[in-house]
Amino acid sequence: MASNQLDTKSQGWSALFSEPMSELVQRYTASVFFDQRLWRADIAGSLAHAGMLAQQGILSADDLAAIQRGMAQIQADIEAGRFEWKLELEDVHLNIEARLTQLVGDAGKRLHTGRSRNDQVATDVRLWLRDEIDQIVNLLTELQRALLSVAEQNVEVILPGFTHLQVAQPVSFAHHLLAYIEMFARDVERLQDVRRRTNRLPLGSAALAGTTYPLNREHVAMALGMVDEHGQPAVCQNSLDAVSDRDFAIEFTAAASLCMVHISRLSEELILWMSQNFGFIRIADRFTTGSSIMPQKKNPDVPELARGKTGRVVGHLMGLITLMKGQPLAYNKDNQEDKEPLFDTVDTLRDTLRIFSEMIGGEVDPATGQKSGGLQVNPSAMQAAAQKGYATATDLADYLVKKGLPFRDAHEIVAHAVKAASSHPCDLSELPLSVLQGFHPSIGEDVYPVLSLRGSLEARNTLGGTAPSQVQAQIQRHHQRLK
Ligand code: ARG
Repeated sequence: MASNQLDTKSQGWSALFSEPMSELVQRYTASVFFDQRLWRADIAGSLAHAGMLAQQGILSADDLAAIQRGMAQIQADIEAGRFEWKLELEDVHLNIEARLTQLVGDAGKRLHTGRSRNDQVATDVRLWLRDEIDQIVNLLTELQRALLSVAEQNVEVILPGFTHLQVAQPVSFAHHLLAYIEMFARDVERLQDVRRRTNRLPLGSAALAGTTYPLNREHVAMALGMVDEHGQPAVCQNSLDAVSDRDFAIEFTAAASLCMVHISRLSEELILWMSQNFGFIRIADRFTTGSSIMPQKKNPDVPELARGKTGRVVGHLMGLITLMKGQPLAYNKDNQEDKEPLFDTVDTLRDTLRIFSEMIGGEVDPATGQKSGGLQVNPSAMQAAAQKGYATATDLADYLVKKGLPFRDAHEIVAHAVKAASSHPCDLSELPLSVLQGFHPSIGEDVYPVLSLRGSLEARNTLGGTAPSQVQAQIQRHHQRLK
């Protein structure tokens, strides 16, 4: 075995092994073809570790310089697509370390002093996920801005609000969109919370019990930006826990699942709203596809796929949480299975958020400055739908209450009025005053503004309600928040 290389032929851990791995076992145990995406975090972690080893007098300044030089070369090679990833070297960590040793000799072999792949991989995944969380938070902010831009244009646009998917009460379309902004704002809060627990340093735990070298773990944490809310180094405090738990990945996937569920609910509404039976909105053609048999079709593929992909992300959550459940302390190879579900969760969520921002808010063409592709709203279809289904029945009941009737009696009286109107059929507001007075003599001319959609909207003037002034106040609040 060449002295500066891991022996890749005969499963070169040590002299202990008397036979090579079969090719099938090699493929079964290797992770390099998916975990190579951790390379940046792996190099950052190694450089921070080496820097600390040198500072502590465990590694010479020359060795540190050699390691830094080698890593710079490796980074350049990976970026240029020149790095040769080898299945025999199992994972991203061994691939990079072996190449480092090939490049700089003994200094490369000293890098692993006081470290194990167990604390290394836990550190890499945390570093990688931390940065992905930051990107996803930015995308969620973009999506909220996109929704807000459509909301601003549609404060006075009225559509039927539903409960049980039955027409319930009229609401402002802006109000409806702001509901999703609330959900995505909570998703951001959750992710930021997960980020705090993700951004803690396992390195220095070594295989499971800590190490005999006088490491300075705080130093490594600072170098890697693993700090708490007070700027103090955030270091995992128990070596067994640090190398073995993947709860941060599970938490992240739970937060991602919730976010996808919110996207999925929105998708379901977009799909309904753009069907011929609603006709409330249109989305740009580039987010739809035709049918191979029915020439008239324009199918909402993007929202449908987002709804479908939600199942996939929730599946990853189930996979990860089940992965953890039977594992004794400390590290077990089971944990290598955390990566694909976690990576796919990040990819799926990231792409979905990007597409949704564009599909809803539109995209500005840098050449022309023109915005295109955003949600197109059909206010008259929404308004017409709100006229059906007696959406202002509650307003009539509230009107009677204000005339002194107990609410339960008012409710019953309005039920009779709705029954009469639906036998015509006509809207409550189309019943002549004499007919309305037949239901209760206290009803006067002043009932008609109450029965209008606009009147109904304006009357719901409580904090968080759908009255245009409330909606405007919320829009201002979100503007401040999303600046
Ligand atoms: N590829 C491994 C993983 O993802 C790295 C840690 C391996 N540790 C070990 N003791 N075999 O978990």
